[in-house]
Amino acid sequence: MAASFQMANHISLCVWLLSLSHLVLTHSETYIIHMDIAAMPTSFSTHHSWFSATLESISTTSTTTVTSSFSSKLVYSYTHAINGFTAVLSPSELEVVKNSPGYLYAIKDTSVKLDTTHSTQFLGLSSQSGAWPVTGYGKDVIIGFVDTGIWPESGSFIDHGMSSVPSRWKGECEDGLKFNSSLCNKKLVGARYFNKGLLSSRPNLTLSMNSARDTDGHGTHTSSTAAGSYVKHASYFGYGTGTAAGVAPHARVAVYKAVWEEGVFISDILAAIDQAIIDGVDVLSLSLGQDGIPLHQDAIAIATFAAREKGIFVSASAGNNGPDLRSLHNGTPWVLTVAERTMDREFTGILTLGNGVSVTGMTLYPASLSSIQGPIYFVGACEDDLDASKIDKKIVVCLDSNDTLGEQFYNVENSNVSGAIFITNNTDLEFFMQSSYPVLLLDLESGKIVMDYVQKLEGEGEASMKFHGTHLGTKPAPRVASYSARGPSYSCPLVLKPDITAPGSLILASWPDRVSAAFIKNGVDSGTEQLYSKFNLLSGTSMSCPHASGVAALIKAAHPDWTPSAIRSSMMTTSDILDNTLKPIQDMGDYNNPATPLSMGSGHVAPNKALNPGLIYDVNPQDYVNLLCGLNYTKIQIQAITRSSTVNCSNPSLDINYPSFIAFFDVNDMDSHKVIHEFKRTVTYVGVGRSTFTAKLTAVGRLNVSVSPAKLSFRSMKEKKSYKLRIEGPNKMEDEVVFGFLSWVDSKGKFVVRSPIVATSLTSIADTF
Ligand SMILES: *[C@@H]1O[C@H](CO)[C@@H](O)[C@H](O)[C@H]1NC(C)=O
Ligand SMILES: *[C@@H]1O[C@H](CO)[C@@H](O)[C@H](O)[C@H]1NC(C)=O
Ligand SMILES: *[C@@H]1O[C@H](CO)[C@@H](O)[C@H](O)[C@H]1NC(C)=O
Ligand SMILES: *[C@@H]1O[C@H](CO)[C@@H](O)[C@H](O)[C@H]1NC(C)=O
Ligand SMILES: *[C@@H]1O[C@H](CO)[C@@H](O)[C@H](O)[C@H]1NC(C)=O
Ligand SMILES: *[C@@H]1O[C@H](CO)[C@@H](O)[C@H](O)[C@H]1NC(C)=O
Ligand SMILES: *[C@@H]1O[C@H](CO)[C@@H](O)[C@H](O)[C@H]1NC(C)=O
Ligand SMILES: *[C@@H]1O[C@H](CO)[C@@H](O)[C@H](O)[C@H]1NC(C)=O
Repeated sequence: MAASFQMANHISLCVWLLSLSHLVLTHSETYIIHMDIAAMPTSFSTHHSWFSATLESISTTSTTTVTSSFSSKLVYSYTHAINGFTAVLSPSELEVVKNSPGYLYAIKDTSVKLDTTHSTQFLGLSSQSGAWPVTGYGKDVIIGFVDTGIWPESGSFIDHGMSSVPSRWKGECEDGLKFNSSLCNKKLVGARYFNKGLLSSRPNLTLSMNSARDTDGHGTHTSSTAAGSYVKHASYFGYGTGTAAGVAPHARVAVYKAVWEEGVFISDILAAIDQAIIDGVDVLSLSLGQDGIPLHQDAIAIATFAAREKGIFVSASAGNNGPDLRSLHNGTPWVLTVAERTMDREFTGILTLGNGVSVTGMTLYPASLSSIQGPIYFVGACEDDLDASKIDKKIVVCLDSNDTLGEQFYNVENSNVSGAIFITNNTDLEFFMQSSYPVLLLDLESGKIVMDYVQKLEGEGEASMKFHGTHLGTKPAPRVASYSARGPSYSCPLVLKPDITAPGSLILASWPDRVSAAFIKNGVDSGTEQLYSKFNLLSGTSMSCPHASGVAALIKAAHPDWTPSAIRSSMMTTSDILDNTLKPIQDMGDYNNPATPLSMGSGHVAPNKALNPGLIYDVNPQDYVNLLCGLNYTKIQIQAITRSSTVNCSNPSLDINYPSFIAFFDVNDMDSHKVIHEFKRTVTYVGVGRSTFTAKLTAVGRLNVSVSPAKLSFRSMKEKKSYKLRIEGPNKMEDEVVFGFLSWVDSKGKFVVRSPIVATSLTSIADTF
């Protein structure tokens, strides 16, 4: 599986970030402390002064020698994202804090994982009709990115033709190393940076770029994907050439750099989200996450609850740990969790054989030379015993008969061939395309043509390789990428996750022109050469998330009064579940079988339809509290999430008004008695004039699914109606995952409001914490 080869690509960023941040071990450690604000004595006017005083009291109470002053212990005090602060504490100091009034609980500061021109067209966005003209291209919506910063000089952040910044905006452009506040404009409206958490863990660290300037590229890429201005003649070394634009080209960008080459800490991410809430972003785009933690320990989940309360739409990446089930992060009920899918675009090269016959293969080799020519030699499986005397300076042909492409690719990279042809049945090839040596990946059919020629001439054949092709209209597309992480959510399995898929595979977007975009082997054994480009192709749910953020910005521009859950609902219920061959979307991580909602959510986002969904499933913050109560979170845990001193658990519930359904059946149940799962939903009509909707159900395995009432009639906009969905079956299921869909279809044929239904024998692990 290609996923094992992720190291070759930009996703590796998260790998070394993680390893770096584990280097330091000191006696004192950095903690995020959650506090109950109700306990704050009235003598304090601000949270900050109370938190400071709490820490100050340590130096008098603590028995340990305190070497630093209290002010150096306090790393951050937060005001919006959480009620609490981050501080460097020794074990005994932590004990003192634990006994302070208002203390709820502490979480150790930990590192966070970054989830690493044509895509807008593939979403169906056009200047002629639909979402772009209707929404003014996302005019005046401000999208905040917590990421690696920004390369402000990139063409994607030119503010040509944009109106002045709305007066409600409180953000700023902070000066810093090689970053002058005058670099901001009407497109790039904010650029701040947060590294006190990182520096408290590594006090002697000298940051290589102490400013919002992006020395990695990830943040420049994600922000231009969501909201980049039009840039003509964009390309990645000649591939994908065209005019590039973000999903919401007139939305504004605010960057919060909290991800550093030197490390990334949750305390800094929290500070960034805290500030984004204060500044007044409308949409928050988070292409990062933490794996395997419950909601009350997931600082991103807690901070985004605060954002939700303030009406900020949050879109977050599902992660790249697929294709195993339950591999996703950010499976938080109040955010949009975004999975990844491919586009209908291929990057190609041509192999021309000595007999004049040509075949097309996949490649992204950033060739500066127009072609490579020479003898061609058939090896078979290119194992680690390659015979240099036979292959040096030749184009070698390797056959991937046993799914060993990764190893063969690596073996050839370490030889002195002039180029390589890999013949493979694998269709999950993107990690092999950005190669450091000339490579063409051929399918079996083209491969047979090449093998027939090469084998007949017994080593005397000739061939040439040409690069820089871009082919649109690839079928089938989209497909779910194998590495896209899967549900159910670890932290909240009762809400079906992911929510949606968006393009994330080989996405072309802006790149810092001083950060290398590719490297190639420079001739035979003379090292590697770094190559630079104003645009780069990246893959991962990191790239899917900003697509969804951009779509949310378009909807927000069209419907400024909609809640974040209404926007999420409209994206989910109008998404597409068929590919461009009109068959169910395939899952590359499951032998191209139809993708289940555990990999694709409700489908792939369709912005034009999302503007006018017909019905919406709204959720208010108290509904989320009711869910947390139902899940048996303790009062203290809920308090930390809601930042409220009172917790209203009068209506605990395991069901929430979500536009999707997941039911867990118990595989360990020996006597397969009948079990009924019942869900209640309330929909709000957002169409014009009278309308009647009828429920249409597809089969869900062999389960009995019913809806009542089966018709919902509305007289006017904003009217609400409720219904129940019942899933009935034997508790013991034959399949691990079965799924189907409920669609509410209106009588005029204008709306199809679709929700996925999943029934699974996977255990619900909500009760393990
Ligand atoms: C920022 O840039 C402006 C315009 O180029 C210049 O006048 C100003 O001196 C710069 N400020 C700093 C702190 O470099
Ligand atoms: C930081 O530098 C100081 C003084 O140079 C040194 O004593 C200390 O051990 C260093 N700390 C770490 C964690 O490297
Ligand atoms: C493929 O793998 C099987 C089992 O691992 C092995 O027996 C066989 O020789 C391999 N075939 C090739 C062509 O490498
Ligand atoms: C590639 O060529 C160089 C220089 O001729 C040589 O030193 C090196 O060993 C060769 N590498 C391999 C794997 O054959
Ligand atoms: C290629 O893959 C397809 C489907 O994934 C499979 O049916 C076929 O047997 C494979 N062919 C070979 C030669 O491995
Ligand atoms: C919550 O606790 C109650 C009482 O102990 C128990 O009956 C219920 O099953 C628990 N709910 C969950 C979701 O674990
Ligand atoms: C608690 O929440 C419910 C809704 O879940 C609401 O009806 C009730 O008024 C709330 N109670 C208080 C004291 O706020
Ligand atoms: C579905 O409902 C029918 C009719 O009520 C019943 O005969 C059948 O046993 C049910 N099947 C399951 C799997 O519950």
